[in-house]
Amino acid sequence: MGSKSERWGSPAFVVLCTLCILFRAAVGSSTTSPSWTSVSDPRVWQEPDGFQAWLQYVHRTSDLASDWATHSKLDTTDVTPLGGPNDDEQTNSTEHNLLQVKRKIVVDQSGKGDCRTIKEAIDLVPPQNRERIVIHIRPGVYREKVKIPKTKPYITFEGYSNNQTIITYNSTASDPKSKKHHTYLRTYNSATVAVNSKYFVAVNIVFQNSAPAPPPGSIGKQAVAFRISADMAAFYNCQFLGFQDTLYDHHGRHYFKNCYIEGAVDFIFGNGRSLYKNCVLNALNNSGIPGSLTAQKRNDTTLDTGFSFVDSYISGSGQVYLGRAWGNDSRVVFARSYMDDVVLPVGWNDWGSEGRERTSYYAEYNCSGPGAVTSGRAPWARVLTEDEAKPFLSMDFINGKRWLPKAEITQ
Ligand SMILES: *[C@@H]1O[C@H](CO)[C@@H](O)[C@H](O)[C@H]1NC(C)=O
Ligand SMILES: *[C@@H]1O[C@H](CO)[C@@H](O)[C@H](O)[C@H]1NC(C)=O
Ligand SMILES: *[C@@H]1O[C@H](CO)[C@@H](O)[C@H](O)[C@H]1NC(C)=O
Ligand SMILES: *[C@@H]1O[C@H](CO)[C@@H](O)[C@H](O)[C@H]1NC(C)=O
Ligand SMILES: *[C@@H]1O[C@H](CO)[C@@H](O)[C@H](O)[C@H]1NC(C)=O
Ligand SMILES: *[C@@H]1O[C@H](CO)[C@@H](O)[C@H](O)[C@H]1NC(C)=O
Ligand SMILES: *[C@@H]1O[C@H](CO)[C@@H](O)[C@H](O)[C@H]1NC(C)=O
Repeated sequence: MGSKSERWGSPAFVVLCTLCILFRAAVGSSTTSPSWTSVSDPRVWQEPDGFQAWLQYVHRTSDLASDWATHSKLDTTDVTPLGGPNDDEQTNSTEHNLLQVKRKIVVDQSGKGDCRTIKEAIDLVPPQNRERIVIHIRPGVYREKVKIPKTKPYITFEGYSNNQTIITYNSTASDPKSKKHHTYLRTYNSATVAVNSKYFVAVNIVFQNSAPAPPPGSIGKQAVAFRISADMAAFYNCQFLGFQDTLYDHHGRHYFKNCYIEGAVDFIFGNGRSLYKNCVLNALNNSGIPGSLTAQKRNDTTLDTGFSFVDSYISGSGQVYLGRAWGNDSRVVFARSYMDDVVLPVGWNDWGSEGRERTSYYAEYNCSGPGAVTSGRAPWARVLTEDEAKPFLSMDFINGKRWLPKAEITQ
């Protein structure tokens, strides 16, 4: 993405203390503000105060627990058939199965696996691969840049618990790509892990771009931790750590479940069509200048792209917009989510283009918490009725019934 930090004006932030207390009482959480432990390298998520109370509020505690157990025990005997045929290509459903494992490659830094780096494991996957291959990555900090080419679909990255397999690098957009040709990586190539192939799955992986937070107004400091540029990808119990442009949700249909995503400026961005379920979004402090949780890039109202956050939890240490309109027809929905007071009362930003106030689709449904008060919202944003919200709440938003495992579809 182009330079944008300079666009931010100083925040006109009103602390809605009374409402804050009322809303906290409503969600039955503790009276202390959820706090986030400051990050170190490698950064790990620490559960904020009030998080458990929020989980109970959305009645998802048991689901979460069982999902975490299920997905951390993926192995060759764990076979779950797909829900149905895929709608947009000829398929062999067993091949497309997200969980049916045909082959396992073990990455172990101490040399007790099939290879020591993730790149070597990808090299072991044959081009035009037609079966599910699980790359099991043993605990460790893997300092490498990883790219999965389009020709290698059906790859799963499987880590060990949600915070012990860490893939990290520190490229930024302005790093040289070719000194000879005076070219730069740009945002697209700054990603620590970039996936260009279909049917990618990641379970229990920490994706990080560790480039330091740039001073406000810096140019070319976009530093992507993960980019997904292909259709039908699923992420469970993963963490995405960065500062500016953490998660490039570029294009395709994607499902993020129980993920932790952290950043300050536009930290979930792109033109994907994605459902974020039970995710935690942590807004970092950008030297006191408001950042944005999302920068969705839909550029045509007839496109079905957009980001939908359901049963998610927003907190952090820096003020943020819920979204700012990168594309003319940017589309983002937050439903049944908890918003801490890091969310600016105005909620949404047109990225300096008034025309986008008419064409963006920015909406909220049944959210709670001090940041969810809609009375101060941008007048062009929407509060949805149950019927209006419905298309964004379920798997249908990403046609998940056609490509995600059956176990996912019961909700
Ligand atoms: C589907 O995939 C399975 C496993 O790879 C293979 O045995 C079977 O022949 C394939 N079926 C079709 C119709 O391609
Ligand atoms: C991973 O998370 C667990 C549980 O929250 C915590 O006890 C542990 O210290 C974390 N491990 C690392 C490597 O940060
Ligand atoms: C990335 O990290 C390496 C090793 O710590 C360091 O030498 C390099 O300067 C860093 N690059 C950037 C752009 O921060
Ligand atoms: C954010 O950073 C600014 C400047 O670095 C600082 O003044 C402010 O107190 C910080 N805010 C929070 C909530 O930590
Ligand atoms: C929208 O973006 C896509 C992908 O970049 C491009 O192919 C398409 O032409 C764009 N549509 C419009 C209306 O600009
Ligand atoms: C976005 O809107 C502006 C103003 O209406 C228009 O000039 C521009 O072509 C649009 N861009 C796309 C990609 O549709
Ligand atoms: C939100 O959902 C809860 C639980 O289903 C319901 O009781 C409440 O009325 C809803 N609130 C709004 C504003 O829709």
